[in-house]
Amino acid sequence: MRLLVTGGCGFIGSNFIMHMLESYPDVQICNLDLLTYAGNLENLQDAEPYGERHRFIRGSITDKRTVSALVSERPDAVINFAAESHVDRSIMDCSAFVVTNICGTQVLLDACREFGVSRFVQISTDEVYGSLGEDGAFTETCQLVPNSPYAASKAAADLMVRSYHKTYHMDVVITRCSNNYGPFQFPEKLIPLMITNALQDKELPVYGDGMNVRDWIHVNDHCRAVDVVLRKGCAGEVYNIGGNSEFRNLDIVRYILTRLRKPESLIRFVTDRPGHDRRYAMDASKLMKELGWEPSIGFEEGMNQTVQWYLEHDAWWQRIKTGEYLTYYQKWYGNR
Ligand code: NAD
Ligand code: TYD
Repeated sequence: MRLLVTGGCGFIGSNFIMHMLESYPDVQICNLDLLTYAGNLENLQDAEPYGERHRFIRGSITDKRTVSALVSERPDAVINFAAESHVDRSIMDCSAFVVTNICGTQVLLDACREFGVSRFVQISTDEVYGSLGEDGAFTETCQLVPNSPYAASKAAADLMVRSYHKTYHMDVVITRCSNNYGPFQFPEKLIPLMITNALQDKELPVYGDGMNVRDWIHVNDHCRAVDVVLRKGCAGEVYNIGGNSEFRNLDIVRYILTRLRKPESLIRFVTDRPGHDRRYAMDASKLMKELGWEPSIGFEEGMNQTVQWYLEHDAWWQRIKTGEYLTYYQKWYGNR
């Protein structure tokens, strides 16, 4: 199995690459990543023993020449994790979100079409469905009503992917997953930001009243789901992925403080995020019934493991928080 994985130096992409290398002795992965602020080659240090089975190429999914060259090698599948992924950044300036998330996906789709790649997996998000009230959960047939520029760019990409199936009969599948947590998550997202701030006795900024609800899933369960969809998903279909673990933000923050034996006085309620979605919940029954996947890591187990990971990898996140990690990859890339 030869795969072209994009965005493989980010949080989920790097966990996915490790999952595939560890699970399949015959898999070979080409990892195309631009190494934006969110990309970090240190996330893939554990891939070193796998040698040539993991090949890293620094480049953008928006660069037609680079993408064509890699897709012309005719991988068995392209899995597109590459994206600008942080809602708050998209609110500040969404231009990179439009370029990478929408135009980049189109460049990949065109190359796959040209070279007849047999499967294209688009990694999308529950945020394309907008916000829920107190009850219910998103199904794959829900309308797309994105509320942030990030979510809008992901929804646009999903529609582009869908159109290539309808128009050109391309074999595409779309996964939409809920909020991930786990090792190597960039400390700008809720859980790693709160863990690392608490460890540094810094304030924990909670947006609004802290009552917004997210459905949390451990990144390993997400990676297993993408693996199943890659191998068994039906062309043209969308699969929701969720962890069945709904929690209010404030409860997550309190849980982290208790686990780290830090005082609640570190919590700071700050101005709410504009357009802040109130609640997400995923109905993943299609994936469970049709492809036999189910989440295997309970929230408490996953959170304990994640907090422990951040405790044991303080060098990793300290280098990010100080900006030092940027020089690491520039040096690495400069040698090649
Ligand atoms: P991330 O921000 O940690 O990583 C994104 C990666 O993409 C980085 O390595 C970055 O360098 C790379 N990248 C950015 N622009 C690029 C470009 N133009 N060309 C090539 N590489 C580029 O994101 P993540 O949390 O790992 O998310 C991965 C994917 O999963 C995204 O598509 C995101 O929308 C989706 N997703 C994330 C979550 C979540 O909770 N984090 C949930 C559901 C879906
Ligand atoms: P985030 O991790 O940014 O994921 P998303 O916006 O994609 O769901 O945020 C998760 C939730 O946590 C969301 O409701 C916003 C909230 N949040 C805070 O309250 N404070 C913070 O500093 C951050 C980053 C997020």
